[in-house]
Amino acid sequence: VDPTLDLVAEINKLKKEKNAVILAHYYQESEIQDIADYIGDSLGLSQQAAETDADIIVFAGVHFMAETAKMLSPSKKVLLPDLKAGCSLADSCPAPVFRKFKEKYPDHKVVSYINCTAELKTLTDVCCTSTNAKHIIDSFPPEQKLIFAPDVNLGRWLVKETGRDMVLWNGSCMVHEIFSHEKITKLRIKHPDAAFIAHPECEAHILDIADHVGSTSSLLRFTRESDYQEFIVATEPGIIHQMVKESPDKVFIPAPPNNACACNECPHMKRNTMEKLYLCMKHELPEIHLPEWVIEQGVASIDRMLEISA
Ligand code: 13P
Ligand code: SF4
Repeated sequence: VDPTLDLVAEINKLKKEKNAVILAHYYQESEIQDIADYIGDSLGLSQQAAETDADIIVFAGVHFMAETAKMLSPSKKVLLPDLKAGCSLADSCPAPVFRKFKEKYPDHKVVSYINCTAELKTLTDVCCTSTNAKHIIDSFPPEQKLIFAPDVNLGRWLVKETGRDMVLWNGSCMVHEIFSHEKITKLRIKHPDAAFIAHPECEAHILDIADHVGSTSSLLRFTRESDYQEFIVATEPGIIHQMVKESPDKVFIPAPPNNACACNECPHMKRNTMEKLYLCMKHELPEIHLPEWVIEQGVASIDRMLEISA
């Protein structure tokens, strides 16, 4: 790409010309969030993908999110700036292995976190996101036995919050499982008036010490609405861009990871760049394609989630 090109202007031009909509997750780099038509959490993004009138959905997020958009709007062209933008959580639950696991529990229904492959959604009764997970689980009668996949940390938190014993798949998110309890505790001593807020994909010992636990949109709302002026934030730091925009006078400190060399940026989310976004809109590639049977059998679990959370 010509380095003198005004990418913001070019992307805006392509958006109009092609009747395209850019949907971006809060973990995207700031410039991508600023050019998006809609920024949100996984639930909001899937609701937008289901409702949009655009001809092309450009998904500034990761592969499972673009797949979900394709399942909800199969006649539309769905683009992802980098097809390698995957997800460690989705990868931790391969559908053929899960199918065997599920056979051991014939009287269980399956609730899957939306962070899973399209194929896993074909083995799922209802999807959920961090925003609606409690509500989705509570929608089953108490006697109904449940399997929850793929995030064991979110699963354990839900077992605690809903008081419901579920069979848990042992998957995890590479970003949220590396926060350091010790370093967070030291940071809290230095900042005694700060609220410690965490995403439920974090491990239990981190969630146990949090003042507020919730999805990205819930964390964002908490920073906007609570009286705290300072926050230690245990999730992917991309969301801090929106937190600062909404509360410019408040202070946000990213929670530290356990290894000094590690960082809590999601390497998958951060594969998308403004250049890749521009090229993908210009060439209408890479595009998401899914086998028809996957769309047909998988979409019911997302539709059911959207119905319950409407
Ligand atoms: P939410 O934005 O729905 O909280 O999901 C977080 C996440 O890890 C997305 O990959
Ligand atoms: Fe997947 Fe974790 Fe990255 Fe979200 S932050 S896309 S769950 S690896």
